[in-house]
Amino acid sequence: MEEYTEVPVINSLEELIQKLRQIFKSDKIDVDYVTAVLSSYKSNPKDWKKYSIFDTHRYTRNLIDEGNGKYNLMALCWGESHGSSIHDHSNSHCFVKILEGQLKETRYNWPSESQGETEMNPSEISIYEKDQVAYMSDRIGLHRMENPSHVVGSVSMHLYIPPFSSCRTFDERTGHKRVAQVTFYSKYGERTPFGMNNNPISERVLHFEHCQKNDRSGGLGSAGFKRNKCGVSLLQRQLNDVDAIRS
Ligand SMILES: [Fe+2]
Repeated sequence: MEEYTEVPVINSLEELIQKLRQIFKSDKIDVDYVTAVLSSYKSNPKDWKKYSIFDTHRYTRNLIDEGNGKYNLMALCWGESHGSSIHDHSNSHCFVKILEGQLKETRYNWPSESQGETEMNPSEISIYEKDQVAYMSDRIGLHRMENPSHVVGSVSMHLYIPPFSSCRTFDERTGHKRVAQVTFYSKYGERTPFGMNNNPISERVLHFEHCQKNDRSGGLGSAGFKRNKCGVSLLQRQLNDVDAIRS
C-alpha cells in the first residue's frame, strides 16, 4: 500500500485530475491526504471555465472527470442564493473545494427513526471561502449547501468516492426522507441534452421546484430553504423533497 508522505504541488486542474486518477488506483482513501492535494491546487478560472455553466433557476452539476468509474469530479455552479436540500451522500466520501465565491454549509444529525416526525435542527454552520476544502460523509451526518450571496454566484468542485446516482433528501420540518436521482447539467463542458439524464422526470420536477425556490413573492419555497413552516401543501412537500442533490 502506498504511503503518502509528501503533498505534491498541483499547478493546474489537469494536473489535479491526473493526480486523483493516480491516488484512486488504490482503494485506500486517506481523507487528510486527499484534502491536502485538493488544497494544493489554487483555483484558476482559466482551468475550469468550460465547466462553469450556470442556470437561472437552480444550481448545476457539471461533470469534469469520471475517474475510471471510481469517483466523480464535478463543478457545481450556484447562482445567487441557490441552495440544496438537506441530503446524505449514499455512503460516499464527499470533498468540496471552493473555486470562486463562498458556500455555506449547514450540518444536521441524522433524524431519529424512533421519534417519528421531528424538526431537524442545525448542528453546525460553516462558511467556506475560495480554495478552502471541506469533507463530508454519512458518518458525520447530513448537510445542506448554499450560496450565501444574494449578489454574486459561486463555483465549487466536488469529489465523490465512489460515484452515486441517487441519494436521500430530508424535510427539515419533519425529518422525512425521500430518494432523489442526481443528474448532470453538463458533461466534459458540453450541455447534457434534456432527457438524457438518469431520470428525466426528476429533472422536470427539480426544475419546477427550483422555480418555486426563487419565487421571492411569498411562494412556497424549497425544502426548508426559506424556512417556511406553514401553508405547504402535500404536493409541494413532495416536490420539495425530491430536490436535486447537486452538492
Ligand atoms: Fe453534499
